[in-house]
Amino acid sequence: MVDLGLRGRRYTTPALQRTISGTPRRFHPSEATAIATELLSETLVLPTQTSPLFHVIDPRVFERPLLDELCSLATHARLLAKSEMGARALRDLLPTRRAMLYFTQPSTRTFLSFNNACHILGMRTSEIRDPSTSSEVKGESFEDSIRTFSSYVDVIIMRTKESGRAAQAADLMNGIPRPVPVINAGSGSDQHPTQALLDIYTLQRSFEEHGGIDGKVIGMMGDLKRGRTVRSLCYLLKNYQGVRLVFIAPEQFAMQPDVKAHLDEHRIPYHETTKLDEALPALDALYVTRMQTEWDTAGESRAVDLSRFSIGAPQLARLKRDAIVMHPLPRGPEIDPSVDQDPRAMYWRQERNGMWMRAAVLIKIFGAEGRIPDAPR
Ligand code: CP
Repeated sequence: MVDLGLRGRRYTTPALQRTISGTPRRFHPSEATAIATELLSETLVLPTQTSPLFHVIDPRVFERPLLDELCSLATHARLLAKSEMGARALRDLLPTRRAMLYFTQPSTRTFLSFNNACHILGMRTSEIRDPSTSSEVKGESFEDSIRTFSSYVDVIIMRTKESGRAAQAADLMNGIPRPVPVINAGSGSDQHPTQALLDIYTLQRSFEEHGGIDGKVIGMMGDLKRGRTVRSLCYLLKNYQGVRLVFIAPEQFAMQPDVKAHLDEHRIPYHETTKLDEALPALDALYVTRMQTEWDTAGESRAVDLSRFSIGAPQLARLKRDAIVMHPLPRGPEIDPSVDQDPRAMYWRQERNGMWMRAAVLIKIFGAEGRIPDAPR
């Protein structure tokens, strides 16, 4: 008997249709030959610019149905992975796809969560994290480097220090014969769309029993001027009814006018303050961010009295009992480690949610959502 390794796939051959439950199945050699012939005649379908999700660059393009679908896919993958059989079915979803992880700006969780999301789905990965090890040091242009990646892989996941690089890569892909999707994994101080997606997933999971994200009061605290995670999250929140925002930041690090203009355009009320203690009692979620010291040109961050924009036991005491505390991490002194023990601390679950949301994004890009076996309830 022959094991064709076809778990979780749907084909026209009746024998193959019987494999969709995720149960490993062995075939008689004569049956296996017919199946193999069918498989060999099947063209490998790659996503195109007209696919429901292709490039992931700007969070503003995400609408509520897609956000709901991605959250549901993330949960589906998360629950499936709890069983040996489910984890194997996930691994069989995208074994013919390859990803390039081009991370030239430091990252721990975005890199690791994308890398592991790829592996969970059976994808293989290549990486460049240090441009001094690539042909960029020989003078190869950014455009030629990106085009070269696309010659070898099916998706490019990239983080850069410069804003707009992922958008530039996506534009380049749109003009070549074999374009591959580009995922922005953080572009300068501008945008971090997949972080915002995982933040939405975390908010949705946290408020599942409390009416969802609609109508919630969300505080964002810290360096809102240079923090790309809060900028991207503000863009996604246009998809939820009745959300109100409270920006708690030092005056010199207040939210940027372009994001405020977006909120005005979508009639999302926001309030700005420097007084954390006054803001805390009304919040359903407090999204804490660190000072983005890497963007300092003359030690600007050092001028901030961080004790006014930090959370510890006294601040927790003023927060609702069912509120949550989020942070994109890594953290600085703005969250005391003792907060980790409080059930409202959501940031460690938030970072793990990132792996499932990034798996959901890859599943959607490659159109594999119809091939996932049912998850246990
Ligand atoms: N939240 C986030 O982007 O973390 P990393 O910089 O570690 O990837």
